[in-house]
Amino acid sequence: MKIAAAALLLAASANAFTAPRVHNSRTATSLSVAQADLDGAQGMIDDILKTKNCGPVFVRLAWHDSGTHDCNIKEEFPASGGAIGSIRFDPEINHGANAGLAGAVKILEPVKEKYPEVSYADIFQMASARGIELAGGPKIDMKYGRVDATGPEMCSPEGNLPDAEAGPEGKFGGAGGTASTEDESAAGHLRKVFHRMGLDDEAIVALSGAHTFGRAYADRSGLGAEKTKFTDGSATKLADGSETTSYTPGGSPWVENWLVFDNSYFTTITDESTDEELLKLTSDKCLWEDEKFGPFAKKFADKDAFFESYAKAHKALSELGSKFENVE
Ligand code: HEM
Repeated sequence: MKIAAAALLLAASANAFTAPRVHNSRTATSLSVAQADLDGAQGMIDDILKTKNCGPVFVRLAWHDSGTHDCNIKEEFPASGGAIGSIRFDPEINHGANAGLAGAVKILEPVKEKYPEVSYADIFQMASARGIELAGGPKIDMKYGRVDATGPEMCSPEGNLPDAEAGPEGKFGGAGGTASTEDESAAGHLRKVFHRMGLDDEAIVALSGAHTFGRAYADRSGLGAEKTKFTDGSATKLADGSETTSYTPGGSPWVENWLVFDNSYFTTITDESTDEELLKLTSDKCLWEDEKFGPFAKKFADKDAFFESYAKAHKALSELGSKFENVE
């Protein structure tokens, strides 16, 4: 009897160890999220950001959740994609454009475990906005209370996010996703992608300025180097002027101080005298070459002008396709 009970207990604990953890996600039927829980989640996120200096990958995670949105799809939530937390599910997390983002979701899991009533969609967007603010960027007027997508069937089809370089046939984008994004020029492709989200030319240029933050990796997009002198584990600057070596080495940044969110992207890409280890993708350079993007790219050499436009565009991006419940 005793042995049978012990065996049962053992089986139960083994099962508890191996079974996937199920969180009380907020669903379309829950009515509100408590401000106290949002505040708690923010405190935890801030601690993670200060320890790991992983703001850039959080910004990319949130943007890739939002950036699937198609404003022409008028059916009910969550049909049009967007900031709905669907990026945490397979197949979306395994889309080519999302390489490396599973790690970012994993870093944020403890926040969800501690505050199960806060949706993943909110946690991803909060981690991005806090990452920017703590790195010296603008304070974004964020709204919370997003309802989560609840299963993989709510994932967006692959192909809605932008390409930085042309494919083997010389074209950017393709026929996949919810609408074709294919174009011979980088600027035309960016317009197809961002206008499909409902965002305009100014937002395209402002949001591209997020590349002032972070790196591209050889083993993710394949567009960065294994490492550069700016990312080899040596000290890099933080927003408060101090320096840190607390980051995972590797990748190519767009700017020298890649853990500071400022407007240096807009003064570095066009400067031919900048260090050759810094990244200049075709989708970055086109912002100065295109007749309508150009004036904004030049205007954002002024930091205040960039921050004002960026904060507005980031807010819009963070709410694409979202369904909100009350915060109380
Ligand atoms: C305009 C079209 C865009 C293209 C073609 C593009 C492309 C890329 C690529 C290829 C990478 C490197 C990924 C890697 O290897 O890990 C990257 C990184 C990044 N992107 Fe973009 N991106 C675009 C727009 C945006 C927008 C709108 C945002 C945010 C508002 C953003 C934020 C970032 C950040 C923060 C990183 C660095 C991530 C890290 O350090 O882990 N990007 N982007």
